[in-house]
Amino acid sequence: MKLPIAKFSLFLCVTTLFAACATPHHPQHEHSHYTPGLGEIMAQTAVRHAKLWFAGQAQNWDLAAYEVDELHEGFEDAAKFHPTHKHIQQPIPALIAQHMDQPLKDLEQTIKDKNSQTFNQHFDDLTVGCNACHQISDFGFNRVTRPTHNPFTNQTFEIR
Ligand code: HEC
Repeated sequence: MKLPIAKFSLFLCVTTLFAACATPHHPQHEHSHYTPGLGEIMAQTAVRHAKLWFAGQAQNWDLAAYEVDELHEGFEDAAKFHPTHKHIQQPIPALIAQHMDQPLKDLEQTIKDKNSQTFNQHFDDLTVGCNACHQISDFGFNRVTRPTHNPFTNQTFEIR
């Protein structure tokens, strides 16, 4: 007795699912059009920058390598979604290449070599690059520094 009802419910479910997929204005599709602002990407970049420092201090090279990857991804998004920004004269991808490529490359090598001697130097070079780009784009008031204390109390940086 119950089987036809079950079958009909299944039919309803499946048709609803198809209908949902075929509708162009389904909320799921709208989500994929969300573009993070450059300021938002930068706020995330600042978090990665700080985490990279604490990973390096703990000689947690896997975590440090991960944070460098995340920094790369953030800058790729910045270049893709914001080829130009506000009144900034130069294209954003060119500024990123100019200020970030070398310090990130040096950090990658340092992390690969597990060299804590050169890590701090290359981290500072990265920070200089961040601030140089802020200066040239008239956002020089956003001054980035070495983090002074670790605010991420819900993540372990030490290797177990
Ligand atoms: C393309 C050049 C460029 C590079 C490279 C760059 N920034 Fe930025 N950054 C900007 C611009 C432009 C803004 C302002 C964006 C806006 O809100 O309009 C900004 C904003 C910021 C802010 C302010 C965000 C907030 O919400 O308070 C922080 C923090 C920041 N950047 C950190 C960094 C760090 C850390 C690095 C290096 C790892 C970096 N930035 C590299 C251009 C750059």
